[in-house]
Amino acid sequence: MSADTALVEAIEQLKRERNAVVLAHYYQEPEIQDIADFIGDSLELSRKAANTNADVIAFCGVHFMAETAKILCPEKTVVLPDFDAGCSLADDCPADEFADFRAQHPDHFVVSYINCTAAVKAQSDLICTSSNAVDLVRQLPEDLPVLFAPDRNLGRWVQRHSGRDLTLWPGRCAVHEAFSEEALLQLKLEHPEAEVIAHPECEENLLDLADFIGSTSKLLIHAQKSPANSFIVLTEPGILHQMKQRVPDKTLMDVPGTDGCSCNACPHMRLNTLEKLRDCLDTLEPAIEMEESIRVQALAPIERMLAMSR
Ligand code: 13P
Ligand code: SF4
Repeated sequence: MSADTALVEAIEQLKRERNAVVLAHYYQEPEIQDIADFIGDSLELSRKAANTNADVIAFCGVHFMAETAKILCPEKTVVLPDFDAGCSLADDCPADEFADFRAQHPDHFVVSYINCTAAVKAQSDLICTSSNAVDLVRQLPEDLPVLFAPDRNLGRWVQRHSGRDLTLWPGRCAVHEAFSEEALLQLKLEHPEAEVIAHPECEENLLDLADFIGSTSKLLIHAQKSPANSFIVLTEPGILHQMKQRVPDKTLMDVPGTDGCSCNACPHMRLNTLEKLRDCLDTLEPAIEMEESIRVQALAPIERMLAMSR
């Protein structure tokens, strides 16, 4: 038996013993996606966490995702294979600075992207993900001033598509801001037939070059539905694992970062490994914990999102 087969068997065995479910984001390493019980974007993973009967959720994603699962399911044990798997957007929005920003805009309704800490969610009126942000903001009364945090790129995109004037917090995803416009233009030149599909966390100059913009799940669906046979994919390349399976006959190209770096791979997401997944199912650590008062305050805007999402 190979080391990998033994590892996968150990994980399957632990899953049964713990009555655990493994949830994975599309940006995880292929071998983690392959062993997951469910793979999805942030919205789908939240919905899955809210509805699972498992006692343990092993969340193969980043900290804010596992934290969201814990907010929704306080009675369950939620483990994250690597506790250092953070997110530059969440880091860009410290809760105390966000409280000051809110205090400067006391009449504003606060919409926060799910990529933020529980302490920021607790200060928000509504949570959104990249797949429902435009739709949710459109549902708000037109005369309601809205503050949007923490992603300025997603915020600008929502602004454009909802027709609403949003007050933006200046956070950014270091991964999606690393894509090189020059490399994208070169790829477009070499492959004029290819469609450019992009995640809304990318900068505006890149989104302007995109034929389709959407969350990770929407990009996957688009690659299947579109008559195009080749795609230039402007998001974390972990998504290519699922995309290749769904459209095996289509050509998929990822875009390098500025200076040709491979910084388009999320360093936080990639901290999780099969070994760490096995270990966290074994020890049930590191587990997500939080103050109950924060959890309860953070739950309300997440539940509002789930109720408003179509
Ligand atoms: P999705 O909700 O599109 O999966 O995005 C999550 C994320 O972190 C993108 O960087
Ligand atoms: Fe955060 Fe960006 Fe990584 Fe997504 S890709 S988890 S937004 S750092």
